[in-house]
Amino acid sequence: MSVDTSSLNLEKVVPQAEDFLPILGTDFVELYVGNAKQAALYYMHCWGFQPVAYRGLETGSKDAVSYVLRQDKITLVLTSPLTSGGPINAHIDAHGDGVKVVALWVDDATKSWEETTKRGGESCLKPEVREDENGKVVFSGIHTYGETLHIFVERKDYNGPFLPGYKAWNPEFRTPEVGLKYIDHMVGNVGWNEMNKWCEFYAKVMGFAQLVSFDDKDISTEYTALMSKVMSNGNGRIKFPINEPAEGRKKSQIEEYIDFYNGAGVQHIAVATDNIIETVTALKARGVEFLTVPNTYYETVLDRVGEIDEDLEPLQKLGILIDRDDEGYLLQIFTKPILDRPTMFFEIIQRKGAQSFGKGNFKALFEAIEREQEMRGTL
Ligand code: FE2
Repeated sequence: MSVDTSSLNLEKVVPQAEDFLPILGTDFVELYVGNAKQAALYYMHCWGFQPVAYRGLETGSKDAVSYVLRQDKITLVLTSPLTSGGPINAHIDAHGDGVKVVALWVDDATKSWEETTKRGGESCLKPEVREDENGKVVFSGIHTYGETLHIFVERKDYNGPFLPGYKAWNPEFRTPEVGLKYIDHMVGNVGWNEMNKWCEFYAKVMGFAQLVSFDDKDISTEYTALMSKVMSNGNGRIKFPINEPAEGRKKSQIEEYIDFYNGAGVQHIAVATDNIIETVTALKARGVEFLTVPNTYYETVLDRVGEIDEDLEPLQKLGILIDRDDEGYLLQIFTKPILDRPTMFFEIIQRKGAQSFGKGNFKALFEAIEREQEMRGTL
């Protein structure tokens, strides 16, 4: 990253999102994992993802295998190396399983690359056309925080199951979907004093604007703290909150992540549902583990958020949290880390008007995370 932001004030530099990088949506999220075959089964069995496409030895891919899974607008790619050495193994060695690529769906991948690199984005992939019998796709990409990449995908001339090089994957085993619709936001954890640098990156290089700002007074408990800013693209389809650790009496959950991930990376993927009670009931029945808050949370929550459409009882039974802003309310719940290292997790979110991120729940939530950290001996 070549953007020096130490002397800049983000809010002054970019008052609003610019349109030089129109993004249609999240194209896919690719994770590098130790065992993609088993990870694919996890996401199918526990999360209701449907098999879409595959590449591996059978398709001529000699050094890596990828399984592509989809639920509504969410596409996951799980990639493992087939040989020793090489960049995928190095990534897994450094970070454990984790998000390598946040791919963005664009109309013009060449222009996306030109506009971002001329503003200081560091290229990881010059515009490149890949073709097969189903058409052609143009790719390009830039580096973001840590070893994470943004790949721009232009697929208007492609009709295959996923991307060139992949074949349709039709295993017999399927599970019902659980109602996940789209990626609401994806959060990046960055190191000490790096939040502003990366918010500036999204503002300057990608034309994003800052939505909301929290400081460490908003997001701290007795022990641990963090700071967070939310960056959004112009049409609001892409929202990237960026967290950094803040000083507390004990270790910040962000610092724990950075320690185990060995640097900056994607902390959580928030996925939207239209019925969080049904979705979380299904996920729990399939073995997904969630953070819980004390029952006392529900004794006062309606005083804070006012009337809601749902009965409180099923929300309390499942541990779903509620928050309200000027525009409405939201329901949300967070999984425990889904990997052995305490790094990445998922959030399930149902928005009922609210466009914020659950600030009113942070205290209860972070106390829940601290109880888990205590058990890991990392608080
Ligand atoms: Fe979130």
